[in-house]
Amino acid sequence: MTTHIATVAGIAVDTRHWIGGARVASATTFTDESPIDGRVLAEIARGGQVEADAAVAAAREAFPGWAATPRQERAALLRAVAEGVEKRLEDLAIIETTDNGALLRSHRRGVMPRVAHNFRFFADWLDGLGHDDFDTRGHTNHVSWDPAGPCVLITPWNAPLMLATWKVAPALAAGNTVVLKPAEWSPLTASLLADIAAEAGLPAGVLNVVQGYGAEAGAALVAHPDVRRISFTGSVPTARRIAQAAAANLVPASFELGGKSPLLVFADADLDLAVDLAVEQYDNAGQVCLAATRLLVESSIAEEFTRRFTARAQALVQGDPRDEATDLGPNIHPRQLDKIDGFVQRALAAGARAVIGGERGDGLYYRPTLLTDVAQDSEIVQEEVFGPVLTLQTFDTEDEAILLANDTRFGLAATVATGERDRAERVTARLVAGTVWVNCFFVRDLRAPFGGSRESGVGREGGTWSFDFYCDLKNTVTAPKGWQDHG
Ligand code: NAI
Ligand code: MG
Repeated sequence: MTTHIATVAGIAVDTRHWIGGARVASATTFTDESPIDGRVLAEIARGGQVEADAAVAAAREAFPGWAATPRQERAALLRAVAEGVEKRLEDLAIIETTDNGALLRSHRRGVMPRVAHNFRFFADWLDGLGHDDFDTRGHTNHVSWDPAGPCVLITPWNAPLMLATWKVAPALAAGNTVVLKPAEWSPLTASLLADIAAEAGLPAGVLNVVQGYGAEAGAALVAHPDVRRISFTGSVPTARRIAQAAAANLVPASFELGGKSPLLVFADADLDLAVDLAVEQYDNAGQVCLAATRLLVESSIAEEFTRRFTARAQALVQGDPRDEATDLGPNIHPRQLDKIDGFVQRALAAGARAVIGGERGDGLYYRPTLLTDVAQDSEIVQEEVFGPVLTLQTFDTEDEAILLANDTRFGLAATVATGERDRAERVTARLVAGTVWVNCFFVRDLRAPFGGSRESGVGREGGTWSFDFYCDLKNTVTAPKGWQDHG
């Protein structure tokens, strides 16, 4: 007998797709493991062309009804989803931690509350969404934000439900229907989201979840001709493939990709703050697209900075992500760990020096690592590692700092630590990045545009920018004359 329910951390999770308001199994499954101990968590339905077709058909069928649902009703349903997330916050937190290895304490306190906030925020934003009418010689131009149609949303494993709902919420708020394909290394919370949405009363087919591998389910979804928007967060090579599929159907696509972001530390900075900001880059075991993995430190303070950084980094507690005291959990998958170690060993072989770390720990844990003596054009400085691995380079002048900071294919974020306002203004004006933080890190406001420059992405989402992407904007021009006068 096959059961389609897995019990994870004592909680039941349906392992099937969610298509057109029903659970749907596949002929085959794939295995989902926990990075904490390698234990098998579930056999998940392995979707492909058939499931992609069914899900897009369901989304297409549900679209006219959802698009015609008044904004206030859509907003009320999204708020009900937010409440459902809050009701199951503990379940979502422990399941996400068990599935992807990120810290339970941050899932509880930061990530899952933000998931609920994603739904509430975009529900609220609908109220203010509009545009002043233009007047053209007495003609009015009225701009309306029409829903675009079925959207395919493809998401990664480093912050699975947070990044998925950052797309799902505005897509649904705009009046679109959605097919979500979560990453195969962290498929579980998306399944719970389907339960929560159904319980909140979201009509059948408005939100669909297809499980499976990127090359199978993902590729079939992004190539489907009935899809009207594609939004993707993940790696650059996959983005190129998706962009080709989107180009074939002329479908607008939004990409939020990786980075190799710098943290610039000037001698005039509050050094304790700068060290705090640097150590923070090990969060989520370095599996953060925004992470400032290149520490650029003014030469005159480099020694002192390194001394304090090392003391702080060595005090980090590495261990089970379910423990309150843990700072650094495991990396997601043996393949990711091999990839991380490959980068580090090649860097060491090329002459880099490990100030700390430089090696694996037990299981899927990687020792927090800081490498110096790295060349600007070397692989370790230019490629995204996506693990707890930072490099340290020094500079002597502001110009040199900016040159190093911008000498990358990426442009997702940059962080500047300085005690001088004038310097902050000069430097931030010249940095190429979608987000720049000054004397802070990771402060996010959903009203602000978010995305990457260069190979870090295409497009911006957040607030009105999300609706700009998920809507078909329509301008209706009405003449002042031609009306029958019934007066
Ligand atoms: P990936 O980009 O291949 O996976 C992300 C998502 O894309 C997953 O849901 C996957 O199933 C899907 N996908 C893969 N191939 C697809 C295709 N042909 N068509 C449609 N969907 C497809 O990333 P992967 O391999 O898991 O990680 C590799 C590297 O990517 C990491 O080491 C890291 O450097 C980077 N990365 C960046 C992230 C970010 O937040 N910007 C998130 C995850 C990974
Ligand atoms: Mg997993």
